[in-house]
Amino acid sequence: MKTIIVSNRLPVKMKEKDGEYIPMPSEGGLATGLGSIYRQGDNVWIGWPGTVTAEEHYGQIEEKLKSQNLKPVFLTQEEINNFYEGFSNEVLWPVFHYMSTYARYEQQYWDYYVQVNQKFKAAILEVAEPGDVIWIHDYQLLLLPQMIREEQPDATIGFFQHIPFPSYELFRLIPWRNELLEGMLGADLLGFHTFDDARHFLQATSRLLPVITSSNMITVNDRSVVVETFPMGIDYKKYESLAHMPSVAHQVRNLRERFQLQHIVLTIDRLDYSKGILQRLQAFELLLQLHPEYIEKIGMCMIVVPSRDNVQQYSALRDDIDKLVGNINARYRTMGWAPIHYFYRSFPLEILSALYNLADICLVSPMRDGMNLVSKEYVASRIHHDGVLILSEMAGASKELIDAVIVNPNNIGAIARAIDEAINMPILEQRRRMLPMRQIVEKFNIHHWVKLFMDTLNDVKRNQQSMLAK
Ligand code: G6P
Repeated sequence: MKTIIVSNRLPVKMKEKDGEYIPMPSEGGLATGLGSIYRQGDNVWIGWPGTVTAEEHYGQIEEKLKSQNLKPVFLTQEEINNFYEGFSNEVLWPVFHYMSTYARYEQQYWDYYVQVNQKFKAAILEVAEPGDVIWIHDYQLLLLPQMIREEQPDATIGFFQHIPFPSYELFRLIPWRNELLEGMLGADLLGFHTFDDARHFLQATSRLLPVITSSNMITVNDRSVVVETFPMGIDYKKYESLAHMPSVAHQVRNLRERFQLQHIVLTIDRLDYSKGILQRLQAFELLLQLHPEYIEKIGMCMIVVPSRDNVQQYSALRDDIDKLVGNINARYRTMGWAPIHYFYRSFPLEILSALYNLADICLVSPMRDGMNLVSKEYVASRIHHDGVLILSEMAGASKELIDAVIVNPNNIGAIARAIDEAINMPILEQRRRMLPMRQIVEKFNIHHWVKLFMDTLNDVKRNQQSMLAK
């Protein structure tokens, strides 16, 4: 019996150099958490290797990945355009993040979404044997559980959604809403980050499909599907031990000297309109306007990691950020100081750890976020138990990190006030809040999350089998 992990992206990205393909590992939390599973024995992780390449290179890439227990699903440029950028990121992503006006309901996007989900199905069926456990991840593969179920009715299938599940009124806008739900219901266990996401899913199924729902169990054609909440964690130990490393401490000193600031507000996100980046900049500007005493004393260090830049809304957002940062810096800067240090790129983990350590304030203000792991990484990195986390109530993490300063990300005035509160927060109060948050992030870490999901999936399957035997 083996475990098959399936996600749109593999935990590595193939980079080409002179006709040779080299796997570059990803630093992602999911890759760390599932590492203990897919690297063992015959287990395997199936997904896209992050690059579009000519068919003649497929064999080479397959070979290289095989030794790491990874199996690639190759996507063509048309599939990237229509399945990934199109249906996944121009229909599902905006609607599921409550930005439905950004959605483009193109029939062609949908056709490719079905086609690519079928491609993933074929890759799974090449390796799946009776008794295997199949764990599918995220919104790019919503149809896959049912596609597998049709081929292997007894398969053990888990599905976890990493982004929010919207309320019924939003979800019903999607022309292919029933097909999406039917696809998901092929799983035995469906996991979401928060209770509200799970509740929204249960409500959508009971309003749209002829199923019987009782509490968190849905009965579909005599088969039961369990819907549960599993808030995802991070590798706490990794962030804590990074913060203790002498090289990181050296970086912190180095950065402190360069910035020469009393207060640093840190923000780190992937480029995305769901992250509330513009609103956060407006809030910072308002703070400077209301509190000129902070000029030359505070700085915002804003890291935006490039993402999905072929999707129109993302490139437009990038331009808007450039403009707003330029405006604010031009208006408020002095000869030796600028309010915003903006970086449009990714950084190595050690530098991120140094920044988490350096910043006395971390501002995480998404309009909507399934969980948000940056907030947890900041908490795990605060080894001296100080610092203030300002956290949007629209992030899944706000349900666990209740000792953060919680804000409504649409309320610019409230974010500005929260930064002011953070600047003036006594150290004892900072510790009173940080300590319980660190305990939560430590206990409910990524390994705990993986184990809980897998154990629950096994229990669900066992219960199903014993019901059938009766
Ligand atoms: C979110 C999604 C993931 C996705 C990641 C990066 O966290 O939940 O499924 O992989 O963003 O986005 P990308 O489009 O680059 O895969």
